[in-house]
Amino acid sequence: MTKKKVAIIGAGQVAEKVHISYYRTREEIDLVAAVSPNFERVKAFAERNGIPNYYTNEDDMYITEKPDIVSICTPNKFHYENVIKALENGCDVICEKPPAISAEEASEMKRVAEKNKCLLTYDFHHRFADDVKLLKEKVLDGVLGDIYVVKVKALRRCGIPGWGTFTNKEVQGGGPLIDLGIHMLDAALYVMDFPKVESVTAKMFQKIGTKKSHGTLGEWNPDKFGVEDSLFGFIELEGGRLIQIETSFALNMKETSIMNVEFFGDQAGATLFPAQIYKDEKGELVSLLNREEADPERHQKSMAAFVDKCLGEDVMVANAEQGYIIQRLVEALYQSAEKGERISL
Ligand SMILES: NC(=O)c1ccc[n+]([C@@H]2O[C@H](COP(=O)([O-])OP(=O)(O)OC[C@H]3O[C@@H](n4cnc5c(N)ncnc54)[C@H](O)[C@@H]3O)[C@@H](O)[C@H]2O)c1
Repeated sequence: MTKKKVAIIGAGQVAEKVHISYYRTREEIDLVAAVSPNFERVKAFAERNGIPNYYTNEDDMYITEKPDIVSICTPNKFHYENVIKALENGCDVICEKPPAISAEEASEMKRVAEKNKCLLTYDFHHRFADDVKLLKEKVLDGVLGDIYVVKVKALRRCGIPGWGTFTNKEVQGGGPLIDLGIHMLDAALYVMDFPKVESVTAKMFQKIGTKKSHGTLGEWNPDKFGVEDSLFGFIELEGGRLIQIETSFALNMKETSIMNVEFFGDQAGATLFPAQIYKDEKGELVSLLNREEADPERHQKSMAAFVDKCLGEDVMVANAEQGYIIQRLVEALYQSAEKGERISL
């Protein structure tokens, strides 16, 4: 069997915990190289993970290793340049979310993937949960009826990331919306088959990150806290339907964390994680689907779909077009919050 050669760009926690640990389970995959700008870090990373070659410069890596597949696991700002380079080198690519930091970049990434006839996918892993598959089938069967309101929640109570560059707007493009909210938006839009968006309005806040310095996910410098700590918005869809989004790194709410989507149809309502469907019949409360636990394997399933697609199987992936649509939506929410006005798409 000829194995597919894989290179990892970005030697951080998602690369190690998700990408490498999944690739290791596939005999069709040969992990050949890791790339990261810091020599000591990439050396230690490669040695720890049994990757034979490591580089601080991706051009050298492409010339020497000629990989078939590349995982892009860098901070957000560097997704664009690394994805373009991987595609120009003829590689199939999985890029971590968000696709990029602007819609223009995500559009160009899609164009270059098409030009080079390469696969470009994004690691929107929540849509790979069994819960999503089950609920999407029910939605398509009309069990919920007309879904006229959707609530997207990606909320942390005191979860400002204390590692990496997650509080740096220039590098990340934003805070909880581009980091967490984008995941639940993807899951919601995927269940609804990507309905057309007409306009968005949003408001964002920086009320906690600039005042505190400690949370459940570590410490940060409040003087350098440059992103929103919460954002709330409305997305108006074709046909008068509405998505309400709430997302935070820090918000004085009761729960520690909520990552979920609620669908309100005229026949029934549902939550996504875990998938549950409920309605009332002649005054009785009825449960039509009642999973107790959301699928904990969704991240591995996202990686599995990508590898299977690279090997020629016809499976669902989060594709470049969908990545562009979501990036455009995130950008519009930020634009609305910054300008204080409704943005039409
Ligand atoms: N799908 C998910 O649920 C999920 C979870 C965590 C992180 N992520 C995404 O993964 C990406 C990385 O996050 P992380 O938590 O692993 O961050 P991290 O800070 O742990 O790792 C980032 C790595 O990229 C390296 N790097 C920085 N600039 C680079 C460049 N120009 N070229 C190559 N490498 C570079 C850094 O040295 C570091 O090794 C982010 O885009 C984040 O949004 C996604």
